[in-house]
Amino acid sequence: MTDQNAGSTSKTPPGKVSRRDFFGMAWKGLGVFAALEGLGMISAYIFSGKNKLTPETKQMLDAGSVESFAPGSVSAFMGGRFYLARLQDGGFIALSIRCTHLGCSISWEESKKRFICPCHSSAFDISGEVLNPPAARALDYYPVLIENGMVKVDIGTLKERNSFRRDQVVYAT
Ligand code: FES
Repeated sequence: MTDQNAGSTSKTPPGKVSRRDFFGMAWKGLGVFAALEGLGMISAYIFSGKNKLTPETKQMLDAGSVESFAPGSVSAFMGGRFYLARLQDGGFIALSIRCTHLGCSISWEESKKRFICPCHSSAFDISGEVLNPPAARALDYYPVLIENGMVKVDIGTLKERNSFRRDQVVYAT
């Protein structure tokens, strides 16, 4: 019969924790503490609302002076992802470039005075109203503000609609 502890320099009496085991448990405890603190910081960030860009966030883009847009014209603002249409009566409406069918980008056909979607041929008039399905809704639009003769578009607030209405148009006073 041999002594199993023969040659060992550190013997731990039964019921006691060795120094190695103690430090191992301490490191594990610190790791769990650090992980919990990290989770707390992440959840505080998520629930604080600081990571959100709400649809109500105003983001004004200066489009230009009122006089720089002729009645009956359409100007593309691809950076803002909208077309600024000036209707024949002088009113402004900023139309989203996204087709209301499945979201393809529409383009303006000057010769036919209409927007056309390359995906399934939906067409819209200068006010964004549907001329040709499959799109079932008018183009969405962004609020326009006219201040000191300058046209500004709030590209942070996309407005959905079913059809065109006169109160969606903004006029210089
Ligand atoms: S996405 Fe425009 S018609 Fe289908």
